[in-house]
Amino acid sequence: ARLPELLQAMPKAELHMHIEGSLEPELIFALAQRNGVALSYPSVEDLRKAYAFTDLQSFLDIYYAGASVLLKEDDFHDMAWAYLLKAQEDNIRHTELFFDPQTHTDRGVPFEVVIKGLSRACARAKTELGVSASLIMCFLRHLSEESAFETLQASLPYREHFIGVGLDSGERGNPPEKFARVFAKCRELGLHLVAHAGEEGPAAYIVDALDVLHAERIDHGVRCVEDPALVERLAKQGTALTVCPLSNIKLCVFDKMDAHNLGHLLEQGLKVTINSDDPAYFGGYLNQNFLETFEALDLDAQAAYTLARNSFEASFVSEADKARWI
Ligand code: HPA
Ligand code: ZN
Repeated sequence: ARLPELLQAMPKAELHMHIEGSLEPELIFALAQRNGVALSYPSVEDLRKAYAFTDLQSFLDIYYAGASVLLKEDDFHDMAWAYLLKAQEDNIRHTELFFDPQTHTDRGVPFEVVIKGLSRACARAKTELGVSASLIMCFLRHLSEESAFETLQASLPYREHFIGVGLDSGERGNPPEKFARVFAKCRELGLHLVAHAGEEGPAAYIVDALDVLHAERIDHGVRCVEDPALVERLAKQGTALTVCPLSNIKLCVFDKMDAHNLGHLLEQGLKVTINSDDPAYFGGYLNQNFLETFEALDLDAQAAYTLARNSFEASFVSEADKARWI
């Protein structure tokens, strides 16, 4: 088969997807109308035109503004359901979805509303779409340690609804150490641990995510190449990097796709995966990320197989499910 068809059709897992980043402008407008929320953009087209980013923070400002239309349990359900339908189209068999409770609880939306809506969509996906979906709760790193602890506390009654915790939002100036105690507590609770590191932040943040937070996977991690000893360690340990190529281009981490280091990371023997990060904002869902990356970097069917296998191996599903999918 031709490579694009193979990329589309092959079963895969997605491990780095912020559910709030799947909110398409059309759905933002529909939810704004449903909830009587005023938007500062007159039309879907005007909102989409604002999606021109220069760095991570310029994106985060718009991304948090977009999330302001989410108020009711059904809003969270409908957002996640729309993504899960795309996931099925892209032949995603399993997805681990990030959600940012503080973005909502800080606006007065109860934690319970967020998690119930998202969980309901995940449960439906399993039975109605054949897509397995789990939730990973992220702490916003620009907020305080105290706020993260409050969020963890609020989540405990819903412990069975999520499989782990992550760390996202503005990386620069918010090192992993800031959340050392929160992650230690999560570790005691038996939660899986991941963290964004080495997207805009230095390679040292990746080292600290491993040593201080005990992160099991690194989200992004592309700046690991600045520390050869770290690259060697990541390869030896088999630590997965959840790389997001279209995101990296849109947020100017790399100038253009030909300049992306994903091929180099694979050659170094790193356990690389491809993911969409915030597909509604970055120009494509998972298969679009595969297509554009393979085209620009001239990757072959062997690389496709490696990336698909890595996505299941690096996931937090049972060994039995891994054996079934790989
Ligand atoms: N980095 C940090 N925080 C985020 C991202 C990202 O790529 N996407 C959504 N929140
Ligand atoms: Zn991310």
